[in-house]
This record gives sequence, structure tokens and C-alpha cells, in this order.
Amino acid sequence: MARKRRNSDSQLLQPVAGNGLLDRRLLLKSGMVFAGAVTTGVGGIATRAAAEPLAVDPWSKTIGATVPGYSTPSHFEAKVVKTLGDATRPGTQQGRTPHQDIDGIITPNGVHFVVARAGAPDIDPEKHQLLIHGMVKQPLTFSYNDLLRYPMETHVRFIECGGNSAPMWSKTPIQANIQALHGLLSCSEWTGIRLSTLLDEAGIDPKATWMIAEGADGVTMNRSVPVAKAMDDAMIVFYQNGERIMPWNGYPMRLFLPGYEGNMNVKWLRRIKVTAEPTMTKDETSKYSDLQPNGRAKLFTFPMEVKSVITSPSGMQSMREPGLYQISGIAWSGFGRVRRVEISADGGKTFAEAALDGPVLPKALTRFRMPWRWDGSPSVLMSRAVDETGAVQPTRAALMTSRGAQFRYHYNAIQSWNVAQGGAVSNVYV
Ligand code: CO
Repeated sequence: MARKRRNSDSQLLQPVAGNGLLDRRLLLKSGMVFAGAVTTGVGGIATRAAAEPLAVDPWSKTIGATVPGYSTPSHFEAKVVKTLGDATRPGTQQGRTPHQDIDGIITPNGVHFVVARAGAPDIDPEKHQLLIHGMVKQPLTFSYNDLLRYPMETHVRFIECGGNSAPMWSKTPIQANIQALHGLLSCSEWTGIRLSTLLDEAGIDPKATWMIAEGADGVTMNRSVPVAKAMDDAMIVFYQNGERIMPWNGYPMRLFLPGYEGNMNVKWLRRIKVTAEPTMTKDETSKYSDLQPNGRAKLFTFPMEVKSVITSPSGMQSMREPGLYQISGIAWSGFGRVRRVEISADGGKTFAEAALDGPVLPKALTRFRMPWRWDGSPSVLMSRAVDETGAVQPTRAALMTSRGAQFRYHYNAIQSWNVAQGGAVSNVYV
């Protein structure tokens, strides 16, 4: 029996696709993978113990740091921060999530991405109010404390800026890390109330099909939202990963439209006006409209399409030596759950299916993993996601053909990482 199992495990160590991709089922049998790596001459990862017992380090000989009221990461993690846009430039500020340095699916609140056009307003929740008016039976205002009395729900959902991955529209591949290329994407556990609860209370005119949502920041950021979305899964959220939303992410409350481009999830929400038509605000005409090859612009392209990216290894990182690795990354779709992620290590010639960390949640990041035996030779890594509607993440060539050169938003093509001889990882177009 033991012999038979060993035999099938060694079969699992045979590549399932080009350039050393291994069977995802090996991830359930990690011990066998690493033992197999040693016996098949690939080499293990750990160093053989030189001496026992282990030396006693200085930090084991003294009393450690006192407990702070609010903990922050180890100072050894000081480089794990948002990368910021040019703060001296007036107007939009950006902060990007360091996907190369985090794992799982939840983005820590301190590194959740930010796009803010007038900074974060310093809102006193005791004084902040929300107004719902327009085509309703009864206009209503709610204080912050009123809103906290409505029934709450919690959901894990991603937010992706409509302009995430914009550097990938460049004609030649920009050499940067994943944070710079794809960092306007985060995922949190959000807690709040259903917007439909408040709209039902105000009583929507049946002829109303749109609303405008407006924030309390210095540019009164506003966007038109279909009433159908508002009545479906839209929320007003107060908590992010269990604590009150960070000021830069909308404190004390933001609109949350699962799967829709980030800009529509209006932060610092102060007003919802129910309307018969879209309002055609500056942020949906000058921005977030999609110029097509025929010269006409598409308006109101809201859900973010199926997409994935390998976070490890990724751009500007370096593989140290040949051997066993775990390819890892994130996949998501604004249309629902991720059904499948396929990995290629040979530039798309062959693909094999990755393991997905469960539970796979709708409109949330999904973590995928794939064992890989890198033999030290040049390889091109790719991930390709398929969502539950059957939509397949496109190649870059297909996306460029369908969207044209003037497109600036909704980049969702397959990301290719080149692993050079020697291990340097770079952004490459295939
Ligand atoms: Co759009």
C-alpha cells in the first residue's frame, strides 16, 4: 500500500505542462513534494542542520516590546507600504497596494489602494448626514447613528479602479513591480447596510432608473448609478476588515457597488438623488468613458471584467536558484465567482489548472497556487482566469485588437512575466 502511494506521488511529480509546471494536487501533499524533490535530485529548500541545539539569539535573552494600544507591523516590514503618486502635484493622489508583499485575499487596511481627488476630508461622524431625495415619495436624511441601527451585512469583495493596470496600455512593456502595474486593486471584508433598505423607505418613483451618488470631499465626487444596481447588491458600508473605514477609503461611510469600477463606490457619501436619467457628471464624461477605434466613446461600462495576475514571482523580483517553487497569484471578476485559473510557464504554449484557495467568493479576490519546478532556464509565466459566466481573460493581443489604442480603462489582459536565465523577473508582452 505504502509502495503504491509512493509510486503515484512520484507520478504526480511529472510535469503537467511545459517548463516544469507540476500537478496542483501536489499542494495537498507538500511533504511528498519536498521529499520527492530531494530524491529526484532537484534539491530541497531547507538547509541541512549543521549543529544542534539551535543558538540562543539576543531577542530570546530579554523582555520584549510592550503592547501598544494599536499594533503596527514589525519594523522589518517597513518596506510594505503603498507607493504614492506625486504628492506635490495638485489634484489626484494615488496609493497602490503592494501585492508582491501580501498573501491571501484580504488587503490590510493600511495598504488598501486609494485614489482621491481632493485628499481625505476630516469628517466628524456626529455631524455627517446622508440625504436621499429626487424621485422619491419622501426625501429622508439620516444621521450616522441612525444608519448604524439598520440591519447590517458583511461581505468580502474586491474594489478595482477602472484605470488599474493602465501602464499596460503602453506600446512597450514598462519595467516595474506588480504594485506599480496592478496596484489599484484591493479586497476587504465590508460591513454595512443594503442601499435598497433606505431606498424602499424613501419610496422610489417607478419611473426612476438612475441615481446620482455624491461624496463630501472637496471635489464632491459624484457618479450616476443604475437603480437596478442600487436595488440589487449595493451597500452603504461603515466597517472595513472589522474596523471603521480608513479616512482615505471613505470614513465614515462609502457607497459600495460590488464588481463595479472603483470610482463609482463613492467615498464620504453625503447625498443620493434618484433621477430619470444619468446625470452625465464630469467623472463619467471627461473620465471613465472609453474611446473606441471608431472614435465614439462608450459610457457607463461599470463591471470590471475577469482578470488574474501572478504575484509571486512577479516583476522586479528575482528567483534565487533552480528548484521547487510555488507560483501564487490573485484572480477576480466583477461578474461573479472565479471558476478556474490556468497557468503557463512556456509563454502560453501549454497551460495547466491551478489550485484555488477556498471558499471562492463572488466578486472577491481568489488566491491561486501552482507547484513549479524551475530548472533555471528562461520561462514566461502567465495566468488565465475564467469566471462563472464562462468569460475568459483575453490575451494582450486580443484586448488591443478589440479595444484599440485610445482605450485607458478596464485593462484585463493576461499578464506575462519573463523569468530570465539567472532568475530576474520582468514585464513582457507575448
Ligand atoms: Co468603465
